[in-house]
Amino acid sequence: MRATIVGAADKRIQELLTSCGISTTAIAAADSASRIQAGLPSADIFVLDMRGQTRIPAALVSLRQHHPRTPIVLVVSSLDPVLILEAMRAGASECLVEPLSQAETQAAMTRVAAHLSSGVSGQVFAFLGAKGGVGTTTVAVNVATELARIAPGSTLLMDLHLAYGDTAVFLGAEPRFSVMDAIENTDKLDKAFFRSLVVRTKDGLDLLASSDRSMMVPIDVERVSQVVSFAAQHYLYSVLDVPRSEPAVLEGLEAVKTIIIVANQELASVRSAGRIAATLRQRYGKDRVRVVVSRYDPKAEIGQDDVQRAVSETIRHVFPSDYRTALDAMNTGRPLVLGNHNRLSASLVALARDLAGIDEAGRPVPASGRMFERWTGRRKS
Ligand SMILES: Nc1ncnc2c1ncn2[C@@H]1O[C@H](COP(=O)(O)OP(=O)(O)OP(=O)(O)O)[C@@H](O)[C@H]1O
Ligand SMILES: [Mg+2]
Repeated sequence: MRATIVGAADKRIQELLTSCGISTTAIAAADSASRIQAGLPSADIFVLDMRGQTRIPAALVSLRQHHPRTPIVLVVSSLDPVLILEAMRAGASECLVEPLSQAETQAAMTRVAAHLSSGVSGQVFAFLGAKGGVGTTTVAVNVATELARIAPGSTLLMDLHLAYGDTAVFLGAEPRFSVMDAIENTDKLDKAFFRSLVVRTKDGLDLLASSDRSMMVPIDVERVSQVVSFAAQHYLYSVLDVPRSEPAVLEGLEAVKTIIIVANQELASVRSAGRIAATLRQRYGKDRVRVVVSRYDPKAEIGQDDVQRAVSETIRHVFPSDYRTALDAMNTGRPLVLGNHNRLSASLVALARDLAGIDEAGRPVPASGRMFERWTGRRKS
């Protein structure tokens, strides 16, 4: 691997990387801005020294802008959760903490190398309704919008309803192309082509919308799977709005991290959620399937306990019933997580943050140490 070290005050980082077998080039902090602007020679990774700094340096933002796919490893003085969250939002992928050790540097570089060779960089979340009209698109659109606040420009919402899906309406977007163009042209899939198919909302979310023509020929699982994998390789977060009735789509979700089944408190939807969850657990593994409840009414005859029994799982997220707020958001094309704070938007934000591994206060989740572990290879004490 070749690394470009940006802004290092001493030779320690260079020595550590060299002893990991990595060839290095160094750029001083003083001319980093102009050198990045002018275009750096290509590198496999960037290592940005921000020891002693308490704010994210401008160099991180401009590295991410000019080299969107190259992993950036930060070197920091301490694990400050707020700084780490900011860094993650700015697109850094790993973090080395002082005191710097050979073992931790090696481990981080191994993770980066594995990451580069797998080609997968992002997390994909699929939303599937237990029945029609339960609120699946509402949940998918709002979770995607919230994730785009964490990773603007690196979050995708893909409407896998091959025809007549609703996500564009929810976002007030007018896409010219659709997911069908991606599926029909998998041989042409590259960054430039994909970018020409999506529309970016002003909130930094890319939408690959549904088509407004219906499909005459059956679609191929392999093609769906290629498009989903492409998204996983090019976006930090991808959210899929998945139709229940398209077997090729349900079979093409191998790259998905979590499939979220949206149910409500109607008997038919609860039964259906139980059946769909069982099938998907068998296909994709138990840990990758979750059930949530939309339009939740605490006084409804079928309570949260009943749903839990029917789907054999603890329900961790419910979204209160609030038809007026949900409808206003849809009719104005402005996802409700962007509007006034209310219980429904708070519950949708909570799901997005849970999926991204961030707590309610916006800090990385310390309980499982998920993010710290991913970032530093160390468990948080
Ligand atoms: N939490 C909620 N409380 C009340 N109404 C809601 C809630 N979430 C969504 N709705 C309303 O329910 C209707 C259907 O929502 P949505 O389109 O998200 O459902 P869906 O499951 O995706 O439907 P479809 O099966 O047609 O794709 C919309 O009018 C929406 O405003
Ligand atoms: Mg829908």
